[in-house]
Amino acid sequence: MKIELAPSILSANFAQLGADAQQAIDGGGTVLHVDVMDGHFVPNITIGPPVVASLRKVVDVPLDCHLMIESPDEYIPAFADAGANWISVHQETCVHLNRTLELIASHGCKPGVVLNPATPVETLTEVLDLVHHVLVMSVNPGFGGQKFIPNSLNKIAALARMRTERNLEYRVEVDGGVDLETVSDVVKAGAELLVVGSHIFGHGDIRTNAARLLEVARSAALARA
Ligand code: DX5
Ligand code: ZN
Repeated sequence: MKIELAPSILSANFAQLGADAQQAIDGGGTVLHVDVMDGHFVPNITIGPPVVASLRKVVDVPLDCHLMIESPDEYIPAFADAGANWISVHQETCVHLNRTLELIASHGCKPGVVLNPATPVETLTEVLDLVHHVLVMSVNPGFGGQKFIPNSLNKIAALARMRTERNLEYRVEVDGGVDLETVSDVVKAGAELLVVGSHIFGHGDIRTNAARLLEVARSAALARA
């Protein structure tokens, strides 16, 4: 299991986004998580394709765009054109989820699907063979700095088990409330892509925060193996 850290820029200083992102990468981040919110699906508004295009010019790692928006099909081409590498959509926003995942892939991006805390993993059984990653929300989406919801551990474990049983290859990603206290449990449950916002960007030195978190996550992965 390859543990990867995906710093979430939501908690970065947007006036110096490129520099903050680079520090998180220097600390061990290998994917940059970009939270896109529309003020409808979630009660907050963040960024759109122009910011993704600007980031694309200054960082080398894959851009993981998490679309917390209604009607994602309408915006997927713009995010792909802006340089997104991975695009994930919420199960709750997609009536035709199969079609939406195919649309993402048709634009050359890795398709992912996201589950809100109240949405069961069983809602994905028919699309697991189409996705590159499944993102388990461990907080209700909309804001950084919220408290980790413990039931997310059961969902992560179930997704890891389903992957083995069905001999599939999707990766299990977790998003929300991941910090030094919770990271070992999420890794032991089976998450391998760790989205971390406020713990990295919210206080102190970005690079040190990222490096320390990754170190604890890797120790937990070794203990699990
Ligand atoms: C929340 C976002 C997260 C957020 C996580 O809706 O999807 O990516 O940045 O932030 P922390 O790590 O602070 O919980
Ligand atoms: Zn996110």
